[in-house]
Amino acid sequence: MSFLSATLDRVKPSPTIAVTTLANELKAAGKDVIGLGAGEPDFDTPDNIKAAAKAAIEAGKTKYTAPDGIPELKKAICEKFKRDNGLDYEPAQVSVGTGGKQILYNALMATLNPGDEVVIPAPYWVSYPDMVLLAGGEPAIAEAGAETAYKLTPEALEAAITPKTKWFIFNSPSNPTGAAYTRAELKALTDVLMRHPQVWVMSDDMYEHLVYDDFEFTTPAQVEPGLYDRTLTCNGVSKAYAMTGWRIGYAAGPQKLIAAMRKIQSQSTSNPCSISQWAALEALTGTQDFIPVNNETFKRRRDLVVEMLNAIDGITCPTPEGAFYVYPSIEGCIGKKTAAGTEIDSDETFAKALLEETGVAVVFGAAFGLSPCFRVSYATSDENLKEACGRIQSFCASLN
Ligand SMILES: Cc1ncc(COP(=O)(O)O)c(C=O)c1O
Repeated sequence: MSFLSATLDRVKPSPTIAVTTLANELKAAGKDVIGLGAGEPDFDTPDNIKAAAKAAIEAGKTKYTAPDGIPELKKAICEKFKRDNGLDYEPAQVSVGTGGKQILYNALMATLNPGDEVVIPAPYWVSYPDMVLLAGGEPAIAEAGAETAYKLTPEALEAAITPKTKWFIFNSPSNPTGAAYTRAELKALTDVLMRHPQVWVMSDDMYEHLVYDDFEFTTPAQVEPGLYDRTLTCNGVSKAYAMTGWRIGYAAGPQKLIAAMRKIQSQSTSNPCSISQWAALEALTGTQDFIPVNNETFKRRRDLVVEMLNAIDGITCPTPEGAFYVYPSIEGCIGKKTAAGTEIDSDETFAKALLEETGVAVVFGAAFGLSPCFRVSYATSDENLKEACGRIQSFCASLN
């Protein structure tokens, strides 16, 4: 009898965490490494949020809370959905978890039975397919390539849906491409979903606030109110508020689903950290002034990286609408050899050789389900980005 669960054979460890760990190890060993792999803002958590956490500790708010969140935070989340998305939710329709990741995981665990399919556009955030597999479902990957600016077409969505489809996972702005759907592009997808009443929508809005050039963010239940009763609108404070380590994510949706997610959380982790919940309350209700300031910085870095990468022969890099990622194609580098003699036969060998020969850490596209590409996280300083893109330029120029 095997000691380890057979379910574990279905999943792989997170490749983005693996790249970040390897880059950190090389750095610790004294190598000159620039990490463009991490999916977190390089800004510090704003002071008002830190102060709220300190005040929570001083006030003794350090005990168990309700398993899926304190009432004050649930109320603030309802207000956020109304203010930002025009969506009406009651506190009983809200779940707070230990990061956006746990929220998505709970929802899949609460709903998937063996054989249930989940449509996931590729490139996708690395955790979606593996979470589906862990929960016993089957990922159904629908390609959204560079020719459609990494956005799923209504035809591709329609083709991916079967009678077994239970969920469609939607992520805009996207990790790993930064692509964000306009209202019209999203409406074209929700029109398809309206024809398939068995399909629920899991909208992962984690990068909602990180959009540039006056892009208007929208979410499925807002664009198509007919989907409200089968949509879980997911979000969190990790990215916009630079709170990745605080571990607070949340979602709102039909009460039946929220109650099922609460049941799972109550028998696994119980409540998310009480202090972080009070900090998240301040994040959602306090000043939002730093968001446009941070976005100016992100936009400048995005433009810098896109320009430097597009100057490379063999690389094409679309300009994304949001998040802090770009997803260049390395189609023109495949089949060439590096100065050290490695043949670039995939984006994985490209990323490995880039790290070994230049010290720049990026995540290869196969990890996100669409090759040959790589993901750059530009959530690092302009100097780092200039130096890293310069090294990528020299690396590619030396390929033959
Ligand atoms: C698309 C997407 N969804 C969810 C998450 C999870 O966020 P959290 O750190 O709050 O668990 C991430 C984090 O990288 C993400 O990129």
